[in-house]
Amino acid sequence: MYVDFSHLLYFCIVGNLFLDSIPLSHAKPLAQSVSTYPTSAVFGLDGLASTSGFVQQCKSRKVQSSRFHGLLRTRDASSRAEDVKKGFLHAWNAYQQNTFGADEIDPMTLEPKTTRNGWGATMVDGLDTLWIMGLHDQFDAVKEKVAKLNFRKGGGQLAKVFETNIRYVGGLISAYELSNDDVFLKKAKELADVLMDAFDTPTGVPWQMLEVETGKGSSEGGSGSSNNLAEIGSYQMEFFRLSQLTKDPKYHQAAQKVIDVILKNKPGEVPSYNVDGLYPTGFDTMSGKFTGGKASWGALGDSFYEYLIKTWYLSDFGLKRNLDMWNTSFDAFQKHIATKGVDDRMYMGLSDGKDFTSIQDTFTCFAPGTIALAGKLLDQKDSLDLAIKLGEACYNTFSSMPTNLGAESIGFLPKGSNPNYSGLSSTERDQVKKHGFYNENASYLLRPEVIESIFYLHRITGDSKYQEWAWNIWNGIKKNCKVDGGYVGIKNVQGGKSSGIIPNQESFVFAETFKYLYLIFSPSEISLDDYVFTTEAHPFKRNIPFNGSFS
Ligand SMILES: *[C@@H]1O[C@H](CO)[C@@H](O)[C@H](O)[C@H]1NC(C)=O
Ligand SMILES: *[C@@H]1O[C@H](CO)[C@@H](O)[C@H](O)[C@H]1NC(C)=O
Ligand SMILES: *[C@@H]1O[C@H](CO)[C@@H](O)[C@H](O)[C@H]1NC(C)=O
Ligand SMILES: *[C@@H]1O[C@H](CO)[C@@H](O)[C@H](O)[C@H]1NC(C)=O
Repeated sequence: MYVDFSHLLYFCIVGNLFLDSIPLSHAKPLAQSVSTYPTSAVFGLDGLASTSGFVQQCKSRKVQSSRFHGLLRTRDASSRAEDVKKGFLHAWNAYQQNTFGADEIDPMTLEPKTTRNGWGATMVDGLDTLWIMGLHDQFDAVKEKVAKLNFRKGGGQLAKVFETNIRYVGGLISAYELSNDDVFLKKAKELADVLMDAFDTPTGVPWQMLEVETGKGSSEGGSGSSNNLAEIGSYQMEFFRLSQLTKDPKYHQAAQKVIDVILKNKPGEVPSYNVDGLYPTGFDTMSGKFTGGKASWGALGDSFYEYLIKTWYLSDFGLKRNLDMWNTSFDAFQKHIATKGVDDRMYMGLSDGKDFTSIQDTFTCFAPGTIALAGKLLDQKDSLDLAIKLGEACYNTFSSMPTNLGAESIGFLPKGSNPNYSGLSSTERDQVKKHGFYNENASYLLRPEVIESIFYLHRITGDSKYQEWAWNIWNGIKKNCKVDGGYVGIKNVQGGKSSGIIPNQESFVFAETFKYLYLIFSPSEISLDDYVFTTEAHPFKRNIPFNGSFS
């Protein structure tokens, strides 16, 4: 998932630097065009009969490795899991003792912060982590507060519809999945019903922001109706599962309507849309059209792609349109996004099929994990190999820094480019020589994506080297980010705390960063064969077969 992206708009400026050196594609085309896909396929089952042998094969495959191998013994792994849990409790206790019920605690001043409508983002996003770590007293304390939340009062703020869905609705659904306590499903439905107001537009594409008291929508900038691909296209998992659990199809229909509208746009007809599956990031709610912006598997795009394949898996391989769109998108990813650097590592940039930008933000590093999952589900060895390579480059952005923490965004030089290119400063050139990349924005904000991919690669390959990688990062966090009130971000991953701190500890630290770290050292918990993780790391069960109907 990505959070506030406004600082990433510099992409437009640095674009096109390395135009001449776009590598030739070595990818095989996987799928036919989806741009003419019939929208009648919302419930997915048409076409299923002809591919049912294929679906049966998918169902019979196991995602998780049957054998975890390497040097790390079970005992060592479980003591590392305990260490992560202790680290989680350090932050949780500060939050619970000082600001329980607030969205966030400021880890420096111990003051509460209202950043997500005052519904307790940290505690709701962190519910399932509490459960997974066996912290049931804390879980019950949150439950009492959750039962009293009023989602028609927004704490003086507009709700960001996407964030509200992934953090709150997703958190409530997974708390229900794990505990079976009806109060969480009731509150998830209550909140989703509030969010449904945002989908009440002429196109069915949701507003970016919502005034929950009145149901009035707007865009983050205030005027206009701009939105982006990740924020409009990341309702599929939460809304599919909610329709299954409530037996009410309206949530799933709303999420799929958005995909219908996306597919009505054709390459060549809208700005920056030149290649099928390489979707521009900007989208206008009112017109239902792309507005431009190079395709990104990081900020502004990421979880849209992630949800194509994961919702297909969650739907018990029923939503065929999702698979087709994943195939098309992943094909374009291989040709235009994944790019070999001068250091022979595989990076991910931005592309509209004509121009390429060789910047990789840290959000993009969710992709190795999701691609590994897809490779396993589809039995594509090449995809798994690519995921392993992409994961290695993502980890290298952490491991080559003295803090063991990686930058918010890095730049790379596509293989074949002249490293003396004058667009880079001499510091950046030196970094490329030494590490293979340079830090574009050198901050680390406790983000989970690299750890997330390490989690998938460990679960899927069984190779314990990934546990070592995670352990190194966790030690980097303890050493460089821990303060009395929890954990803070740092301004420069070269320098650690002394380079300046950023006193933000967003709810994803509790939902994602700590959960993935913990699960890497507890490989028998929350199996990838039984659960699908949302973009906010909330595990949803795959226990209701999907036959095209919710009732
Ligand atoms: C998607 O890819 C899988 C694996 O290569 C293939 O079996 C399937 O037929 C593809 N689907 C489409 C619609 O191309
Ligand atoms: C880059 O610059 C250095 C120092 O000026 C020079 O020695 C080297 O040959 C240059 N490399 C390329 C590929 O131009
Ligand atoms: C780097 O990213 C952080 C986090 O998104 C942002 O707050 C900061 O302004 C960025 N710094 C620069 C120099 O762009
Ligand atoms: C489809 O699945 C639902 C459960 O989600 C079940 O109630 C219904 O009976 C099934 N319908 C058919 C035709 O199998």
